Amino acid sequence: EKQGFRHFMLKEIYEQPGVVRACLEAYLDSDWTASNGKSPINLNLPTELCADLEHIQILACGTSWHAGLVGKYLLEQLAGVTTTVQYASEFRYAPPPLTANTLTIGVTQSGETADTLAALSMEQTRRLGKSGEFKARLLGITNRPESSLGQLVSHIIDTHAGIEIGVAATKTFLAQLIAFYCLALDLADQRKSLSATAIEKILDGLRLLPAQIEMVLESQERYIEELAHDFAETQDFIFLGRGINYPIALEGALKLKEISYIHAEGYPAGEMKHGPIALLDAKVPVVAIAMPGSPVYEKVISNAQEAKARDSRLIGVTTSNEGEESDIFDQVLPVPLVDELLSPIVTVIPLQLLAYHIASRRGLDVDQPRNLAKSVTVE
Ligand code: M6R
Repeated sequence: EKQGFRHFMLKEIYEQPGVVRACLEAYLDSDWTASNGKSPINLNLPTELCADLEHIQILACGTSWHAGLVGKYLLEQLAGVTTTVQYASEFRYAPPPLTANTLTIGVTQSGETADTLAALSMEQTRRLGKSGEFKARLLGITNRPESSLGQLVSHIIDTHAGIEIGVAATKTFLAQLIAFYCLALDLADQRKSLSATAIEKILDGLRLLPAQIEMVLESQERYIEELAHDFAETQDFIFLGRGINYPIALEGALKLKEISYIHAEGYPAGEMKHGPIALLDAKVPVVAIAMPGSPVYEKVISNAQEAKARDSRLIGVTTSNEGEESDIFDQVLPVPLVDELLSPIVTVIPLQLLAYHIASRRGLDVDQPRNLAKSVTVE
């Protein structure tokens, strides 16, 4: 069933272009044009679920929580709805005060994570205890609509990624991101926070992504496999990103630690100088995600230069390995130039490959890392 791949994780990384295509096919309305007044997105959600929204709260764990952080960025920047993201395990024991017209989104690929289910069901109960303005509106984003999550919430966005076997989430993460792009665009259309032409531009960019992911996979895999040899003895890694790529830095660090057992931390690059920079020396490689065209590009580059001045080996996830970038970075993992807003879909791919090859090179059980289960069904 691994279809010639050494591990399920690598197979699932390679399935990502197809997963993104399948999600886009399921969610985008092919009849829509910027001028025909129809809805561009087809998530089959009832209008009352999202009417007059004032607040969205996202509850999740692990990689799904990282997808939620990207989702927050999209829902705030595209749809203009204030969004909070909480670890379900924290929310359960310190829920925030109730707010009116709030949509609660539970994100869980398995639909079986105990903390996420408990947080959602607690939210439903405490809202039912209040007057009508605090009515519960629950939405699930999951790869398993038939799961316990599916029984708990009345509305689901199915992420269509197919079964994921590797404990490290890869293709389901990308599918969750696509679900958030589509939800944010749907709300932006309903709330008129974006023009039809702005929506069209993002949709055009989304449609190019499957081929761009393929390009990254084809051009990078061998190179990253080789590069992994250099980290046979490495004990610590730092991942830096800003804006919409900050959650991708967190995700790169989580992938590496869970399958390679290397200590890794993801940071918003601007925070390094407030403490973590003290960790850096020649033994601690730094991976920085820097997308040209983004308002934070120059900032990430200057944060990367600060790391280089501490002798860290610097690996850049950026669009070019020539010019300025080749002067700063010791290695570049190139990704296509895409709009910053869409960039997480391409920047996460080299980080998945890096984690995979470092772990595989160490001879570890990539698909079944120690101490972990595919879904965490206990608190
Ligand atoms: O099934 P879920 O999305 O609710 O799982 C949440 C986390 O347990 C999960 O994302 C975990 O962090 C993964 N092993 C990450 O690769």
